Amino acid sequence: MNLKQQAARKALEFVQSGMTLGLGSGSTTAYFVEMLGESIQQGRLTHIKGVPTSLSTAQQARSLGIPLVQLSEHPNLDLAVDGADEVDPNFNLIKGLGRALLREKIVEMHAQHFVVIVDESKLVPVLGRRFPLPLELVQFEHGVQIAWLNTLGCRAELWLEDNGSPAITDNGNYLARCWFDNDIPDAYALAENLAQRPGIVEHGLFLDMADTVIVAGEDQVRVLNHPKGIKK
Ligand code: A5P
Repeated sequence: MNLKQQAARKALEFVQSGMTLGLGSGSTTAYFVEMLGESIQQGRLTHIKGVPTSLSTAQQARSLGIPLVQLSEHPNLDLAVDGADEVDPNFNLIKGLGRALLREKIVEMHAQHFVVIVDESKLVPVLGRRFPLPLELVQFEHGVQIAWLNTLGCRAELWLEDNGSPAITDNGNYLARCWFDNDIPDAYALAENLAQRPGIVEHGLFLDMADTVIVAGEDQVRVLNHPKGIKK
């Protein structure tokens, strides 16, 4: 079992019959969804409902027989489980390099308990250390957003596919990636700045959202609870 699978398996211990779950996106969460589906098929978990954060997770969940519901009908999720691209010591995250950050944030802010599953390579002392920050943009005049992002102390680019066409999200929007050569100095200030900019639909800073981080390392799988406790 690889590290991502080990983190996913540990997250399954948080799931109880009858729960409504936010189902994240990305390769680590795909293991979780697979294991969840097996548990349902084998009858170990019953009356589970899922709210998917991407079309691909929805497709995977359906193929495994995991019942899906609308967030509007079940706005109080018992638990959400998702991966991350970076995790800092305060459990703040960069997410979205799987392109699903907008739906992830919409769903995961409704979770009573948000569990993040990562292998230890995702732990960073400061956000922006290893990976770019992804953002979702409206297509209209996106060039002006890229230019503005480049004034924020990062190198920003429109996210392109290998064939040179812009990557398009499940919501029909474009994406940008911003590389911070000197880390993100103040993630809260940056998040506030980005949130006020018309045309930027959402950014991949997930601040004060994670309650638990499951970190799979070569020696052990650690379950880290937020030092301030569950905040909701
Ligand atoms: C999806 O948009 C992302 O937020 C993922 O959660 C993140 O990219 C982690 O992906 P992996 O589990 O594939 O590393």
